[in-house]
Amino acid sequence: MARIELEQIVKRFGSLTTVHGIDLTIEDGEFVVLVGPSGCGKSTTLRMIAGLEAISSGTLRIGGEVVNDHEPKHRNIAMVFQNYAIYPHLTVAQNIGFGLYTSRLSKAEKQARIRETARTLSLEPYLERRPAALSGGQRQRVAIGRAMVRDPVAFLFDEPLSNLDAQLRAQMRLEIKQLHQRLGSTIVFVTHDQVEAMSLADRIVVMREGRILQVGAPMELYNRPADIFTARFIGTPEMNMIDATIGDGRVDLGANAAAIDVSGLASLPGDLGAGRSVVLGVRPQELTLLNGEHRDFPIRIEGKVRVAEPHGSETFVLLDLPAGQIVARAPSTVSFKAGDPVFFGATAESLRIFDKQTEKLIG
Ligand SMILES: Nc1ncnc2c1ncn2[C@@H]1O[C@H](COP(=O)(O)OP(=O)(O)OP(=O)(O)O)[C@@H](O)[C@H]1O
Ligand SMILES: [Mg+2]
Repeated sequence: MARIELEQIVKRFGSLTTVHGIDLTIEDGEFVVLVGPSGCGKSTTLRMIAGLEAISSGTLRIGGEVVNDHEPKHRNIAMVFQNYAIYPHLTVAQNIGFGLYTSRLSKAEKQARIRETARTLSLEPYLERRPAALSGGQRQRVAIGRAMVRDPVAFLFDEPLSNLDAQLRAQMRLEIKQLHQRLGSTIVFVTHDQVEAMSLADRIVVMREGRILQVGAPMELYNRPADIFTARFIGTPEMNMIDATIGDGRVDLGANAAAIDVSGLASLPGDLGAGRSVVLGVRPQELTLLNGEHRDFPIRIEGKVRVAEPHGSETFVLLDLPAGQIVARAPSTVSFKAGDPVFFGATAESLRIFDKQTEKLIG
């Protein structure tokens, strides 16, 4: 097991810089998920940790030792890719054992390791089968087994689940989480799926254009996103964003003023200068459908139903406001007709205020 430390890690491809000085410490036994849109540098960062990509500048330490110039095989790290290449002509046991190809263990020790790994991954019944006779999830577990069998100090996963169908992905997500609980190993996991990030991570690292925007526990990022990008990226459906201007100690909603009543807001964060352009963020799940009786919400929104999307346990309603649209969660017991006027309420705590220029959270 090992702590992984990235200090000012930079990656350049020729004159193009794709990772711009990343600082990140991954604690021993921690499950860290790198998340961000395509091309933001997740795989490049992971490959630099693995030693598959040279580090242009900065320092990488594993277990306290600087490993910038160590060969991948001397870093004792295992990597599992999206396109896990397991060998079709080898049995499950041989595929798992392939991870020990270069090891100096005795034959008996190797056999014991393979059996132990297969047991951990519930692959024991399939040891003599070939991959063609396995399900997608079982094949994925074989690929993980090949990484595990070497007893690495850390696991790096690059979108290992993105080739699987939705159901299998959800199942493998749980399996990987349980595997982490059992092994207690350090895991760095790359995905662009925020649900995967939320459900797996001890800490999520949000990346954009080769930089880290925010690092935090999933619920920290969900509740206090540092900027608009993270706010929209984490949580589904994404957070509603409404343009506004700060008037004299109050919020001016422009064209939406007739539809959004914020007169119940007691106070705004102190440092909001008058005239400042802001963006108000509120999650669909933080809106409450009002039916006339309980009107004690400091923020009230009136919109017209454009379309309702039942999810079974809840219904998401897309509402037209005078300027723009928002999504609100409603109980699945209520039915909506396009064009119907509806009211939603929000608490003061659910409202996040971002600066429109810097896109940073204010207060
Ligand atoms: N060998 C290379 N030469 C030049 N540019 C590269 C090379 N490898 C990656 N890049 C660039 O570096 C940037 C980051 O790529 P990377 O593969 O790390 O993205 P990613 O976050 O993993 O994206 P995805 O979610 O699509 O896998 C991209 O703009 C990519 O085009
Ligand atoms: Mg990638």
